[in-house]
Amino acid sequence: MKVLVVGSGGREHAIAWKLSQSPQVKVFCAPGNGGTAMLERCQNLPLSVEDFDGIGEFARSHNIDLVVVGPEVPLALGITDYLQRQGTKVFGPTRAGAQIEASKAWAKALMQEAKIPTAKAVIFHQAAAAKDYVKSQGAPIVVKADGLAAGKGVTVAETIDQAHSAIEAIFQGQFGKGEFVVIEECLTGQEASVLALTDGLTIRPLLPAQDHKRIGEGDTGENTGGMGVYAPAPIVTPLMAEVEAKVLQSAIATLKKKGIDYRGVLYAGLMISPNGEFKVLEFNCRFGDPETQAILPLLETPLEDLLLACVEQRLAQMPPIAWKTGASACVVIAAGGYPGTYEKGKVITGIDSAAALGANVFHAGTKLVQANEENLLAPSHSPLATHLVTDGGRVLGVTGTGDNFEQAIALAYQAVDCIKFEKMYYRRDIGYRVKSKAVNF
Ligand code: AMP
Ligand code: GLY
Repeated sequence: MKVLVVGSGGREHAIAWKLSQSPQVKVFCAPGNGGTAMLERCQNLPLSVEDFDGIGEFARSHNIDLVVVGPEVPLALGITDYLQRQGTKVFGPTRAGAQIEASKAWAKALMQEAKIPTAKAVIFHQAAAAKDYVKSQGAPIVVKADGLAAGKGVTVAETIDQAHSAIEAIFQGQFGKGEFVVIEECLTGQEASVLALTDGLTIRPLLPAQDHKRIGEGDTGENTGGMGVYAPAPIVTPLMAEVEAKVLQSAIATLKKKGIDYRGVLYAGLMISPNGEFKVLEFNCRFGDPETQAILPLLETPLEDLLLACVEQRLAQMPPIAWKTGASACVVIAAGGYPGTYEKGKVITGIDSAAALGANVFHAGTKLVQANEENLLAPSHSPLATHLVTDGGRVLGVTGTGDNFEQAIALAYQAVDCIKFEKMYYRRDIGYRVKSKAVNF
């Protein structure tokens, strides 16, 4: 079986790694990264995620059995529709389905129609009216741009002035078209991610996870793409049946009612209040990053069987998803300066020692470079023909698994200790909420 994974992050490395555990699967990655380049039975392709013609031509000429789309951007641009037209099987929703992530206003309307618990929200087409509304509601309040903004389109405003500046920035077109703004009630509690596989009819939830979005220890500082994550999140476990019924099933039923045949991952970002009530903050139309790096190492069932069952709409006939017992924790190593400006091209060492401890080292912003005279990376005595260098903000995700959270977290950090590159940064408190908790799933 030949599978083509679209994307280049830690999530795509984790997907490619899991697929390549099955000896009968040959994986291609477009474009992949340094980690996928080094995986056995995996080959990187020099194709960008938006090069639909190139990806389509490769899939046709190499008889690719399944394309798995990692990131939201190609999904929102319609990669699934494009590939389906040529008869290629694709895991990931069509452009219509991807609106659940690509338009916050559309997603909010869907949640209201499906009666899914979510924050109260109002849409404004004019800055003045939005500002008046914010004044009437008071701070804290949340201001959201409508389209995809790589996580930067949401401001949790602590003051009215902050909310007003965010509204102005949106109408000035700093995040997409700037035609309207979504103003939302500010929710408090703990955030969690529930990802589910779906074939448009049936839902199969994956283990719930909790991400650490802020750059600083103790959840302080700027928001990032995610600095670490663990699974299964004990705060969600007792709520899973309710989340499945009230959120995931309702969303899929309403999508179907709208004529949208949604096959892929439906990811609900939840806010859970101290008394255990949950509301949906957002939906995503893809696997989470770094959630996937913590979830897939616990998955027993071959991933290709599940993804193909979604695409072929026979998820209901699949046996229950099998999970390893225990827990996982993933620590993200970033380039110093991230999420602001950072340098690239730093030589990374120690990954083999980290892996030898039994951890999974998933690459995100890395690439393999030839050690030649020009880049002077290889000392003349080096036996290595290639070097691994940093090539992005989030560089690696190091996942430890174990019988409990304490073991998983300890293994992840022992492995992180083996890895070195200039100006590397990581949080030392990943899993602080669960370290001493039992795993119940
Ligand atoms: P979103 O892309 O809508 O998930 O927003 C990104 C982040 O903003 C979330 O992960 C939350 O940390 C925060 N956020 C979004 N909506 C709200 C809300 N209604 N209340 C509090 N925080 C929010
Ligand atoms: N970890 C957050 C996301 O994937 O959107």
